[in-house]
Amino acid sequence: MRKKIVAGNWKMNKTFQEADDLLFEIADELNEKGRGDVDVIVCPPSPYLEMSCDIAAENDFLVGAQNLSQWESGAYTGEISAAMLHSMGVTHCILGHSERRTYFGETDNAIAKKIDLALKNGIIPIYCCGEVLAERQQEKHYDVVRSQVSEALFHLGKEALQQIIVAYEPVWAIGTGVTASPEQAQEMHKFIRSLIADKFGNDIADDLVILYGGSCNAKNAAELFANSDVDGGLIGGAALKAQDFVAIVNSF
Ligand code: PGA
Repeated sequence: MRKKIVAGNWKMNKTFQEADDLLFEIADELNEKGRGDVDVIVCPPSPYLEMSCDIAAENDFLVGAQNLSQWESGAYTGEISAAMLHSMGVTHCILGHSERRTYFGETDNAIAKKIDLALKNGIIPIYCCGEVLAERQQEKHYDVVRSQVSEALFHLGKEALQQIIVAYEPVWAIGTGVTASPEQAQEMHKFIRSLIADKFGNDIADDLVILYGGSCNAKNAAELFANSDVDGGLIGGAALKAQDFVAIVNSF
């Protein structure tokens, strides 16, 4: 049985006080509504990770970062290492998000280095992939995702791959209010699973958690999560309201 996961990507939102409030609201909402058998991961901006880990330790969720450095340690001003995150109690890290690829020029090569360092330091990568609108319109979406998945993950051994969570996030659906249809999500998730099966074998592919991300909200989560290859969601905008986020958690 694969794990079910809902992760909230806060991106660059919330002041310190607002973040503190939201963390407690999520904790209270989870205590009240429960989370079933779903693992809940909150990914706040990095200045709030320590506070998040403290609150998470007393409550029922895990904490992920939104990025980590491709370098191990040393003279890299402004960077945050995988070892630092691990030492604070961070368990997961979003890597390869389209906003990092677009605005910070992250290449598959750099993302592969980040994945290696995350794994080396006991952090589970949530690896994001997905095509832009023009690529889908030109029917290149399978090629794009195949290339992203193979460049970032195919150098890994089987044991390492078993740690990975994949998030399929069609870029045209991120923050746009346009969600992939349940059929579009299911067919791409199935395709990603087949890529992993071809490379690493059926058993490992069967256990791979693949999240959907892109305008997933409390209204559409249930029909997305009902698909056999959709194991949960990576939630942006709707993760900024505790009630909406926990409603998504309870959409399975
Ligand atoms: P969104 O963002 O839910 O606001 O579309 C998802 C993401 O970027 O992870």
